[in-house]
Amino acid sequence: MDTIGDIDKGKLPKHIAIIMDGNGRWAKQKGKLRVFGHEHGVKTVRETVENCANLKLQYLTLYTFSTENWNRPKFEVETLMKLLVSSLRKELKTLNKNNIRLNAIGNITSLPSKAYKELLEVMEKTAGNSGMTLTLALSYGAREELTSAVKQISTKVKNNIISVENIDETIINNHLYTHDLPDVDLLIRTSGERRISNFLLWQIAYAELYFIDVFWPDFSEHHLVEAIINYQNRERRFGKTSEQLN
Ligand code: IPE
Ligand code: IPE
Ligand code: MG
Repeated sequence: MDTIGDIDKGKLPKHIAIIMDGNGRWAKQKGKLRVFGHEHGVKTVRETVENCANLKLQYLTLYTFSTENWNRPKFEVETLMKLLVSSLRKELKTLNKNNIRLNAIGNITSLPSKAYKELLEVMEKTAGNSGMTLTLALSYGAREELTSAVKQISTKVKNNIISVENIDETIINNHLYTHDLPDVDLLIRTSGERRISNFLLWQIAYAELYFIDVFWPDFSEHHLVEAIINYQNRERRFGKTSEQLN
C-alpha cells in the first residue's frame, strides 16, 4: 500500500477539489438515518484537511452543499446547516494551528444567518494564514456562478466599464467565485458516481478526474495518497502531443 512518503513532493497538484459523496448510502448500509452519515462525513473532512495541509498542498476545495441540495428534506438540510455551524466553531483552532486560510464559494448569503455569520467569522480569523487555502463550496452551483458572472459583466458593459471586444477568459474568470483560486488540477469524487453534479464546470476544464468507489465517511489517508499517485502517473497534455512535452 502506498503511503504519504511515496508521493513525489515535486509534482504535487496545486489544487485538489473533492465531491464528498455517499454519506447517505454509508448510513443506510448500517441501518442508520442519513444524518448519521453526515456526522461521520465531518470526521473525514477534518482528517482530509489535515492530511492535505501536512502534504503542503496549496489549495483544497470541498463540495459541501450544492444549490440543488436545498431541495432535500427539511430535516436533512437543517441538520447539515447545524453541522456546518458546529464544525466551524470547533475547527477554528485546528485551522490556525495548521496555518490554513478558510475561504468560501457559492451563494453564501442564502445560508441561515447563524451559519453565514460563523463562516464569515472563521474566514476573518484565518485570513492571515499563509499555508493551504481551504475553500468550502456552500450553496454552490456552477450554472448559478456562470449566470451571475454573465450578469455582472453585462452590467459593466452597459455602464461602459468594459467593452464587448475586451471580454476574454481572464475577465470571465475574474467574475467567478473562484477568481482568486488557480484551476483545479485533480478532481476526486467518492461514492462510485461518475458525474460532476454542477461543480466547478469552468474550473475543471483541464482537471484530471478521479472516481473512487468508497463512500465519503470511509475515505481515508491511503485513498488520498492513491488518488495523488494516480494523478502523478498521468500525462497532462493540454492539447499538445506527447512528443512536444518531452
Ligand atoms: C454527500 O453525501 C453529502 C452532501 C451532498 C451534502 P450524500 O448525502 O449525497 O449521500 P448519498 O449520495 O445520498 O449516499
Ligand atoms: C453533490 O452530491 C453535492 C455535494 C457533494 C455537496 P449530490 O449527492 O448532491 O449529487 P447527485 O444528486 O448525486 O448528482
Ligand atoms: Mg449524493
